Amino acid sequence: MFWVFLLFAQSAVPSQIERGQALFYESPAGCGTCHALKGKGTAIGPDLKGVARLSPAGIAMAIRSTVTQYVQTVKVKSGESYPAMPPGPDDKTVKLYDLSKMPPELHEMDRADISMSPNNSWKHPPSARKYTDEQMADVIAYVRYAGAGSKTPVDPADVK
Ligand code: HEC
Repeated sequence: MFWVFLLFAQSAVPSQIERGQALFYESPAGCGTCHALKGKGTAIGPDLKGVARLSPAGIAMAIRSTVTQYVQTVKVKSGESYPAMPPGPDDKTVKLYDLSKMPPELHEMDRADISMSPNNSWKHPPSARKYTDEQMADVIAYVRYAGAGSKTPVDPADVK
């Protein structure tokens, strides 16, 4: 009985979520290039579980935002500098992704060799990309499903 229910539950994923999933993991520059959900994708940007419970309009605003909240400008002793998410607090060797590259390029560096300052020039790629309202609603439906288990449809009119 239980397995029959599981099979049913699986086939009952709405097609909007399936379309959103396809867009999310689209290559070369889909969301999954920088965000991981359900163990798929690369966790370079923030974990989207944190926003998955917001309203569709709130998530749309975060996707389209041109103001960064976390990304910093990393300066390396050698003179190089690039935008990156700040590293975690732990290790001596830090992993940073150069967000000016697509896909972002991984650098491993000695923490002592870098300094960070606020960044206000990096732009979240989807802010410049023209998604239709329908596509935006599909992607958000997938984020809400994969990040918070919601199967509620997202109305394109709510994410304009
Ligand atoms: C090139 C890497 C990259 C791609 C591609 C990308 N993102 Fe992001 N995303 C980031 C980074 C980095 C941040 C943090 C920005 C900041 O400093 O505020 C972010 C932030 C976000 C946030 C806000 C999260 C929070 O906790 O504040 C959402 C929502 C989001 N991205 C969704 C998406 C979706 C949906 C797509 C695809 C349509 C996408 N992103 C594509 C790197 C990326």
